[in-house]
Amino acid sequence: MDYGKLVQAAQEARERAYAPYSGFKVGAALLGFDGRVFTGCNVENASYGLTLCAERSALARAVGEGVYSFQAIAVVTGLEEPAAPCGACRQALAEFSPEMTVVLANNKGTTKVTSLKELLPLAFGKPDLGEGRHCE
Ligand code: THU
Repeated sequence: MDYGKLVQAAQEARERAYAPYSGFKVGAALLGFDGRVFTGCNVENASYGLTLCAERSALARAVGEGVYSFQAIAVVTGLEEPAAPCGACRQALAEFSPEMTVVLANNKGTTKVTSLKELLPLAFGKPDLGEGRHCE
């Protein structure tokens, strides 16, 4: 899949964001190795700390559909410079596909391609948990 379509899917998801408190809408689209796309948007709450980021909302949707490994994620914001996922989302994404491509975009057509390895070097992961403490 070309990243243009993935960015478009994230853009459409961004329009569904529920962000009445920050006013900052984010959309994300994950591309599974099977070619399927899973979108998400940020979901805020009056109890601010319960806010769910767009990236983790897309991740939850994918895992809920039984897809656990991803080629890429596109993240769309309305900022002049495309914004990268927060630290918590980087860690959540690395759990499944630490090698994934990360496509950052805004709603004006500016795109930057990077990788999760670049955004989260020396990531903590399952092999670091030690003998007998793996999740699988
Ligand atoms: N947000 C995301 O959806 N993804 C990120 O990686 C960073 C922040 C959302 C959370 C909140 O609804 C709004 O952006 C402002 O922080």
